[in-house]
Amino acid sequence: MRIRIASSYFEMSNAAAKLIAVQVRRKPDSVVGLATGSTPLGTYRELARMHRDEGLDFAEVRTFNLDEYYGLAPDHPQSYRYFMNENFLRHVNINPKNVHIPNGLAKDIEASCVEYEASIRDAGGIDVQLLGIGRDGHIGFNEPGSSLGSRTRLKTLAQETISDNARFFKSLDEVPRFAITMGVGTIFEARHIVLLASGVEKSDAVKLAIEGPVTTEITASALQLHPRVTVFLDEAAAEKLKRKDYYKYVESMRQVVGQGDV
Ligand code: F6R
Repeated sequence: MRIRIASSYFEMSNAAAKLIAVQVRRKPDSVVGLATGSTPLGTYRELARMHRDEGLDFAEVRTFNLDEYYGLAPDHPQSYRYFMNENFLRHVNINPKNVHIPNGLAKDIEASCVEYEASIRDAGGIDVQLLGIGRDGHIGFNEPGSSLGSRTRLKTLAQETISDNARFFKSLDEVPRFAITMGVGTIFEARHIVLLASGVEKSDAVKLAIEGPVTTEITASALQLHPRVTVFLDEAAAEKLKRKDYYKYVESMRQVVGQGDV
């Protein structure tokens, strides 16, 4: 697990965008797993800027989103499809045919989840998967207690997640109680996993995910077992890490051997 601590949200977002840009330039038809929520907004903004100013080309890129609220239509302003269009997809030259987001209106949920997994496999698997982390340590909507081998499925949201997400809805009652989410096992198959966290309110979850035991109580802790994970944090999110100084030292030494950005 590589831990990169940035001085600000802005720096963190730009570093994560740079990593994705390197991947897309190396392999123009990369399969990129995407997340919604507040955390990746700066990364999406920077990727859109790179597209506009530096010609970063998304024409062949294929994307798979982690999750979608169950029961929301794609044009619902709080659906994750709407979020992705507004905050990223419409700002780059991605082919809509290459965009995959779980179907929140699926009649046969199970069949639709099986199909989602199959389309990830058919695309050759995910090259780089972007993740945020919930205050309860979730990745995707894999709430505490989710199996670390779980696959794409319907998940009942935890109360903490429902109240955290209420800020995007008119009232708490409007927040969906279910989501379709990639499982921890699905996420784990990505070749490179990039987790972003910003702000002091994430610092407990970050500490437990990186330095705590691997447990279903903090589904992000499963990432400790993955061979290639990069965690981008700002100072506030990194504040409770026991080995924070060591992680910074490691990064400074990587610069010395010219491995700072890879
Ligand atoms: C979003 C997702 C969630 C969020 C997490 C953090 O697609 O899968 O796991 O990444 O809830 O959300 P923010 O970034 O809003 O704090």
